[in-house]
Amino acid sequence: MDRLQQAISKARKDRETATSDVAGAAPRMPARAAAPAEASAATTDLGLLWGEFSPLQIPQNAITENRLVAYNSGDSAIPFDMLRTKVLQQARKNDWKRIAIVSPESGAGKTTTAANLGLSFSRMREKRVVVIDFDMRRAGLARVLGQRCKTSMSDVLERRIPFSQHGLCHDGNVVFGLNRERVVNPSELLQNPMSRDVLDEIEEVYQPDLMLFDTPPLMVSDDSYGFLESVDCALLIAAAEKTPMERIDVAERQLSELTNVMGIVLNRCRHTTGAHGYENEYY
Ligand SMILES: Nc1ncnc2c1ncn2[C@@H]1O[C@H](COP(=O)(O)OP(=O)(O)O)[C@@H](O)[C@H]1O
Ligand SMILES: [Mg+2]
Repeated sequence: MDRLQQAISKARKDRETATSDVAGAAPRMPARAAAPAEASAATTDLGLLWGEFSPLQIPQNAITENRLVAYNSGDSAIPFDMLRTKVLQQARKNDWKRIAIVSPESGAGKTTTAANLGLSFSRMREKRVVVIDFDMRRAGLARVLGQRCKTSMSDVLERRIPFSQHGLCHDGNVVFGLNRERVVNPSELLQNPMSRDVLDEIEEVYQPDLMLFDTPPLMVSDDSYGFLESVDCALLIAAAEKTPMERIDVAERQLSELTNVMGIVLNRCRHTTGAHGYENEYY
């Protein structure tokens, strides 16, 4: 049995004996059962497991053309570093780990936000974060990060390959699960119990502090609806000049029936231009 299998078995055993209560302030929606608080593998093993991912190498043209403003620290990264801190505070306060990044329609900036938040977290050396592209009709996160993948998250969810062979790790502490191409049945795939088990295993084995999920637009398909039951909360991204307030309102209400709303990011709002060279605000 290899190290990964051993870690999975141990995590499962731990999980069976662990209590499922989530500590901390009571969120509005019932929290998912928590992964065992005790590490399922020793810290050193965890370092070795994370070391098994292939490194993510982002080409310079992707950084400049795709607005990866958080790639380096500095003024341009400040909005995402601030968002990172707010996300962490909320997550800590409510004991949330799985965060879906959602928007009513496409083009609001979900994928750009997911990529930049991941890059921003990679500069927090003590945090481990998993970022997964579940907008499976587009393979957008791979494009934004300038990657041509050989495999997709669907291969991981359907157990054709282990996550260790698919994830691409940036700076040792943020791993991205990308897609090679669009899949035809994302809604069914995301609601498949096997997919949920695989996600649980990734969480149990790699013990990330946070898991971020780029998701399909809420009002375009039902892809997200089932999946949102598997997350702790959602961060709603709205394009300031594109998404009408009523639509943000409706999306927030729909979302709050499915999961906890962590906050709203008003992206692409011009009135904040100049402060940090990037345009978004968090509410
Ligand atoms: N704050 C921003 N300012 C200007 N353009 C942005 C901003 N955020 C995203 N974009 C651009 O908007 C387009 C759509 O962004 P994307 O992240 O793909 O949205 P989504 O994933 O919600 O469909 C991309 O071309 C992206 O570079
Ligand atoms: Mg997208």
